[in-house]
Amino acid sequence: MDLAAFPRRPYTNGPTPIQRLDRFSRALGADGPTVYIKRDDQLGLAGGGNKARKLEFLVADALARGADTLITCGGVQSNHCRLTLSAAAKEGLRCRLVLAESAPGAYRPEGNGNVLLYRLLGAERITTVPWGTDLLAALDQAGAQAETEGRRPYLIPLGGSNPLGALGYLACAQELLGQTRESALELQHIVLPVGSAGTLAGLLLGLRAGHSAIPVTGMTVLNPRAKAEATTLDLIRATERFLGCPVTVPADQVVCLDVYLGAGYTLPTAAMLEAVTLLARTEGILLDPTYTGKAMAGLVDLARSGRFKRGENVLFLHTGGAPGLYARPELFAGV
Ligand SMILES: Cc1ncc(COP(=O)(O)O)c(C=O)c1O
Repeated sequence: MDLAAFPRRPYTNGPTPIQRLDRFSRALGADGPTVYIKRDDQLGLAGGGNKARKLEFLVADALARGADTLITCGGVQSNHCRLTLSAAAKEGLRCRLVLAESAPGAYRPEGNGNVLLYRLLGAERITTVPWGTDLLAALDQAGAQAETEGRRPYLIPLGGSNPLGALGYLACAQELLGQTRESALELQHIVLPVGSAGTLAGLLLGLRAGHSAIPVTGMTVLNPRAKAEATTLDLIRATERFLGCPVTVPADQVVCLDVYLGAGYTLPTAAMLEAVTLLARTEGILLDPTYTGKAMAGLVDLARSGRFKRGENVLFLHTGGAPGLYARPELFAGV
């Protein structure tokens, strides 16, 4: 699938590395798989992470439309909001955020982690809304407000997860297939976190369009399984329509396990703490408590329970998020 027709801003130099995690794999046991990691935490923009790929297409579209202000939304500690701010700074655009608070007062302007970086990266305005608010409607409202101020706003939905944003992970799948072909690496499985679903949707589309049947397991960290899978499938179908291509991904290949979500979005689990600590101490690689830590906890469990076996190669897509560690130091007090 040729993406050359879509305007795109380059935010990363070259492909992100794929690394073999020998010490981590050994720690999972002699009967476990060999784990590889694709370092999308090393993508460009401030702090890296998966949204940098989506923003290459979204911000190029904003510029093509003559926008002067990006407006997006997320949770209080949103990696997507940080990266949108970073892209806006790089392009000379203004940027406003709508943040959904898990509890009243959850957003504290003096907070750490991504909140500190919102300030540093020059957020022009931050509006908070209660958890459960219709964020699309809140974005529309922020856009209408910006227009009354004479701005030309460009609205980016939650997580950058619309068909244009999903192209970022379609491109990632093409990059990954090129890398595995070149190094003769045969993958039996891919694991990644799922939030707003654009990463999983784009990746599955890109793999299947590239004639790869590698099974992919998403670990949902936001919604229960049925909703996560339905959201992913809806976005896959919308992206197929957007591209004018036939159905590429069968519905039964969309898998989002919710076993590792725990009590809910951003709420810590013991398995997450163990996975974050294990990867840090065996490989010197940082995960985050909200997304990659829970997804890696899933990979660890599937390896220990024999679902991923010796002789198999499992790739973990590291989608970034480590700045979120600095917002929650108390979580790791006991490790
Ligand atoms: C670090 C990190 N990993 C994974 C995700 C989930 O990606 P998606 O929203 O495309 O499902 C996010 C979303 O915010 C994220 O910040």
